[in-house]
Amino acid sequence: MNKKNIIAGNWKMNKTENETEEYIKNLIPLIEGSLSSVYLAVPFTSLKAAINLTENTNIIIGAQNMHDETEGAFTGEISAIMLKAIEAEFVILGHSERRHIFNEDNSFINRKVRRALKTGLQPIFCIGETQKEREESKTEVVLEKQFLEGLKDISKKDVLDIVIAYEPVWAIGTGKTATAEIAESVHSYIRKLIHKHFDAKAADTINILYGGSVKPSNVEELLKQENIDGVLVGGASLDYKIFAEIVNKS
Ligand code: PGA
Repeated sequence: MNKKNIIAGNWKMNKTENETEEYIKNLIPLIEGSLSSVYLAVPFTSLKAAINLTENTNIIIGAQNMHDETEGAFTGEISAIMLKAIEAEFVILGHSERRHIFNEDNSFINRKVRRALKTGLQPIFCIGETQKEREESKTEVVLEKQFLEGLKDISKKDVLDIVIAYEPVWAIGTGKTATAEIAESVHSYIRKLIHKHFDAKAADTINILYGGSVKPSNVEELLKQENIDGVLVGGASLDYKIFAEIVNKS
C-alpha cells in the first residue's frame, strides 16, 4: 500500500486569530519539503486567517466539528455549508471529547458524516475505546459499533473520501501512547472492518490515522506499521516547531 501519510494537527480550543497567523507563518517554511499531507484543524474563529495564509502551500485547513443540519434555530452551531463557503476542506467528527464531554452519540455523528460528505468536506471520523472498555476486552466490539453506526448508509463510493482516526480514549492527552504493536493490531482490525462492510478498494484507499499522545519521539515507530497511514496530533501540534518535527519525521 503506498498512499501518502496524513499528519493532522488538532488544536482543540486553543489559539486566537493572531496566534494562528504567527504559528502558520512560522510553520510554512519548516515543512515545505514534506512528503506527507499536512492537515490543521483550527478553531472556527481561526479558519479564515488560516485558509488565507495557506493558499499555495501544502497545508490543508479544516474544522474540529460542525452540526448536521444545513441551517436553522441551533444557537451556537456551525453548518457544513458555512465551512465549505470559507473553503475549509475537512472536518473532524466523532472526536472522543465530543462523544464524552458533549454526549454526541453514533447516530448524530453519522448524520454529520453524511452531511459533510454531501457538502464536499472530508470527514476525519474518529473512533476509540475507553480504558475500562479495553480492560474488559471490549475494544473490538466497541469499535465495530462505532464504525457501523457512524458510517451507516454511506455508499462504497462515498466512503472513499473518509479518513478514519483510531483514538484510544485512554491515550488522549494523557501522555500514554498505545504501543506501536497495540495500535497496529487495532488498525489492522479496522482495515478488516472496512473490507467486510465496504470492499477491498475502500480498505486499500482509506487512510487510518492513529491519535493519542503522538510526539516526535514516537511518530516514526507508529508510522512504520503497515496499517498506520498517518497521525492525529493534539497537544504536540500546539507548538509549530514540535509539529514541524513530527511532519518531517513522517
Ligand atoms: P493528544 O490528543 O495528542 O493531546 O493526546 C490527540 C487528539 O485528541 O486528537
